[in-house]
This record gives sequence, C-alpha cells and structure tokens, in this order.
Amino acid sequence: MMSEWLALREDADAAARATELLDPLRASLPDGPLVIRDLGCGTGANLRWLAPRLPGPQRWILHDHDAELLALATAGTVSAADGTPVTTQTNHSDLTRLCPADLAGTSLLTASALLDLLREAAVESLAEACCAARCPALLTLSVAGRVELAPADPLDAEIAAAFNDHQRRDGLLGPDAPAVTAAAFRRRGREVLSRPSPWRLGAGQADLTARWLTEWCEAAVEQRPDLATDVEDYLRRRLRACAAGRLRVTVDHVDLLAR
Ligand SMILES: C[S@@+](CC[C@H](N)C(=O)[O-])C[C@H]1O[C@@H](n2cnc3c(N)ncnc32)[C@H](O)[C@@H]1O
Repeated sequence: MMSEWLALREDADAAARATELLDPLRASLPDGPLVIRDLGCGTGANLRWLAPRLPGPQRWILHDHDAELLALATAGTVSAADGTPVTTQTNHSDLTRLCPADLAGTSLLTASALLDLLREAAVESLAEACCAARCPALLTLSVAGRVELAPADPLDAEIAAAFNDHQRRDGLLGPDAPAVTAAAFRRRGREVLSRPSPWRLGAGQADLTARWLTEWCEAAVEQRPDLATDVEDYLRRRLRACAAGRLRVTVDHVDLLAR
C-alpha cells in the first residue's frame, strides 16, 4: 500500500534532503504570504519537512491523483518557521495536465520523489509552466540510478542495471529524471542548483531496507526474468544480513533548485 511505503520512508527522506538548498531557496522567494504547490504530494511528507523551514504565512496547494493520499496529507497541522499555522487545500487531478495558467500566483513549485515517475514531455511542460509563472522550483529526492551495498556482492551491478531499465519502462524517466529536468529548466534560462540527497540505510533502518531490497529485486526480475533463480538466492542472503544488522545501503537521490 502506497501510504504505508511513504510512512516507512519519511524519516530516511527527511535525513537525506539537501539542506544546503534552503538558503538559496529562501532568497528566491517573494516577500509576503507564500502560495506553495506540492506536486504528487502523497501523504504530505514534503509539506511536513519544508513548511517549518520557510517563513509564514503559507498556503499549500497539494496536488495528487490519489484521493486517499490527499486526505492523509491534510489530516495534520503544520506551522511555518515563525509559528504561523500553514493552510492547505487539495487539488485532486493529474499533474501532467497542469498548464501555465494553473500556476498563476504560485510562489514556489515543489515536488519530492516524483520526477522518475514522469515522462520527458511532462517534465518539459512543468518547466514551461513554472517559468511562465516566474516561480522557483524545488524538486527533491529524485532517484539517480546508483546504489551501493556493503558488503558488496557480484550480483549487485546486474540487479541495479535491470532495476534502472525497469524504471525506464514505457518511456518513464526513472534515473534520467534529474538530468532531463535540470536541462529542461536550463534551456529556459533558469539557474539550476543540484545537490546529492542519498539515503544512507543501516541497522537503524532495517524495515525500510528490507522493503526497498525486496521491491528492488522484484522489479529487476520483472525486467530480467532470466535472473529469477539467482536473485531469489541473493535476496534471501541480503535479507538475512539486513536482519542481523550487517548490511548498509546507499541509494543516491538528487535535489534540484531551479530559480
Ligand atoms: C513516490 S510518491 C511521493 C509522495 C510524496 N511527495 C513524498 O515525498 O512522500 C509519488 C506521488 O506522486 C503521485 N503521482 C504520480 N503521478 C501523478 C500524476 N500524474 N498526477 C498526480 N499525482 C501523481 C502519486 O499518487 C504519489 O502520491
């Protein structure tokens, strides 16, 4: 279930986010009340992390095509850095259909863990709409296609490559999302700052690591059925090491600020 997965990853995401982008982001925001659109908001993890780090007053417009996630995203209360309660509203729609007029009056466009799920055309039109609205964009936690497991295993690279190909199925951007998105904004004259935001998973994140490992392997086998037997054995070994606190995993992500 998506909400369960998002809850499981929220702390690792929060620890990974590139805080170095906060000062340049704050410097690119207009004075006065902020209107912030969070695209693909899920249960609101981006709101919970970012709103307390930005000045108030803030109004967040939470976009998602999943109504149940939107209900969870607006369930709690969040305050801006100065203690002002943040107001929220939802937009239940397909974000790939947003046009420049929809973003009129937006002070900041943000998204987290979203870009790899989009196609190039959607990223191009988001960049176009964002530039037309003359607002900055903070696009965080995009998978970068690199993982490192310690101790290493000879199968790691083959599984990683199959997983990356699976992410690119049907023209989705997958691990190409950070580069394609940065290029889309730069082509429109924006300065783009890019910072790493890796998950660093160890014994303290055994549940998340086990779930990530399992889904990583499943996707790889869906892409490369010929790997099934080897990966089954691999996953059993890796889950054993994970449960014993002997596995460390780095999953690279990238945070982008386009201003
Ligand atoms: C991996 S989740 C990330 C959720 C949240 N931003 C976070 O960081 O926890 C991706 C979210 O994007 C939403 N999403 C994906 N494609 C979408 C689309 N075309 N229109 C609207 N929402 C979309 C999904 O429903 C999901 O909630």
